[in-house]
Formats: sequence, structure tokens, C-alpha cells
Amino acid sequence: MLKFDKLSKIYFSPSGTTEKIVTEIAKNFNISQENYDLLSFDEAKEFSDELVIIGIPVFNGRIPKTACERLSKMKAKNTKAIVVLNYGNMDYGDALLELTELLKENNFEIVGVATTVSQHSQFGEIGRNRPDENDLKKINEFGRNIIKKLETDSVNEIFVGGYKPYQQYTTPDFELKCNEDKCIECMDCFYTCPEDAIPEDSPTTTNMSDCTSCSTCINVCPEGARSFTGPKFYTDYQNAIEDSFERKEAEFYL
Ligand SMILES: Cc1cc2nc3c(=O)[nH]c(=O)nc-3n(C[C@H](O)[C@H](O)[C@H](O)COP(=O)(O)O)c2cc1C
Repeated sequence: MLKFDKLSKIYFSPSGTTEKIVTEIAKNFNISQENYDLLSFDEAKEFSDELVIIGIPVFNGRIPKTACERLSKMKAKNTKAIVVLNYGNMDYGDALLELTELLKENNFEIVGVATTVSQHSQFGEIGRNRPDENDLKKINEFGRNIIKKLETDSVNEIFVGGYKPYQQYTTPDFELKCNEDKCIECMDCFYTCPEDAIPEDSPTTTNMSDCTSCSTCINVCPEGARSFTGPKFYTDYQNAIEDSFERKEAEFYL
């Protein structure tokens, strides 16, 4: 019997795959659940005596700056955490160490860690349609193993690889275009952009000095009007396909 009466799902998920994986793990727990979507949730919060699942994607070998800032405001007191680092079949760099260190600093007690692989949110040919059936099977098995571990009440420190100082944080600064013929000005992109980079009075444009190429606006647009473009995007896309063709698999730490 698990002694928790609540499970909080905390995620930053511009193209939805991290949220999907966190939700899949959460389905294994028969307890009431709450969501903290870090695309919009930006408040101080203290968790206590509960279980949380934290899912964050990899951005250029690090955790996204905005996710990091928002997660830093979340503190724990006797709170057990399942950690999911989700990446696009390329490389997760120092992000796993960065994420687990941040959570430990904020007093979360890490009971399990997964590095999962999903379709790349910028270069969709990489990891296309992942997580697939095989991924979800392993992710669910991980969820069940965590339950067994929590039932036995065993505590162990989980160590993950990575190096300090972390690699430099960079944003890819890809150009973004919006097809004005398709845009219906529903304002979904304006409301969901975590960087407030889309002007309310001109939603077909993007303030590129604030944009982090996270892909939220592309993903949320019901008309498929938004996309990355420009020579740098196409060159990086080609290079990424050449470097990351081979399928990577999820890893689990308990
Ligand atoms: C700005 C940016 C940088 C990324 N950098 C990496 C990376 O370094 N390695 C990698 O494997 N995937 C990288 N990805 C892909 C995402 O980590 C991956 O698609 C993840 O599934 C996105 O999660 P989401 O669907 O919850 O947004 C990057 C994606 C974006 C938008």
C-alpha cells in the first residue's frame, strides 16, 4: 500500500511528448492527481508529504532556461520525486545532472529517474512518432517498479552521469514564419508562448529576441500556420539527421 494521498505532475512540454510520458507513468498510481504546467505556472510552491513526477525536455544539452527558472521556485519537504528527462534521440548532454542536482538542492528525494526518447520537436524526422508502443511499455514497467520500490520503503541515493561546469546554455535562434493566409487569429499561440514572444496586436509575428525556438506556438496552432524556416534551420536539420539516425532507447535508474 502506498502512503501518499496525492500525486502532482510537473512538466514543461512545448510539443506535448514530455507531458504524455509523465501522464503514462502517473496512470499506474491510483491516487488523486494535480497538474503543474510550467509553460504557464510561474509561482513559488512548496510540496510536502506527497509524490511528484517531474518531466523536462532537453534543449541543447541543458534543461530549458525558463523551465529551470520556474522549477527553481518549487521546494520540497518530505516529497518523493520521479524524474523524467525527455530528449529527441540526439544527446542529453549535461541536462540529467543539471535537473537532478536542481531537485536535490530544493530538497526533493529522488526515487527514480528515466531518460526517455521522443520525436524531436524541431527536427520531426528524428525519432518520428516516439514515444511508440515499445517505449510506452518500458515506461509503464518503470512506473510499476517505482511502486514496488515505494512499497518496500527502501531509500537509496541515485547517481547519474554528467559533468560540471555544465556546457554553455545556447538557444538555436531559428527563424519562425507564420502563414498569414492560414492564421485565424485565435490567439492560442499568444496565450501559450512561455516567453511572451508573440505580440497580442500582431500574432502573425514573433519577437525573435525573446523566442527560444521551443516550438509551443507551432504545436498549439490549430491551422498549422507556424513553422521554423531559414537557412540555419535547414542546415542544422540536415546535420542532425546525419548524426542521429540510430535509434536510442530509454534508460532507467532506481
Ligand atoms: C530548442 C530545442 C533544443 C533541443 N535540443 C535537443 C538536444 O540537445 N538533444 C536532443 O536529443 N533533443 C533536443 N531537442 C528535442 C527535444 O528535447 C525533444 O523533442 C523533446 O521530446 C521535446 O519535449 P516536448 O514534446 O515535451 O516539448 C530540442 C528541442 C528544442 C525545441
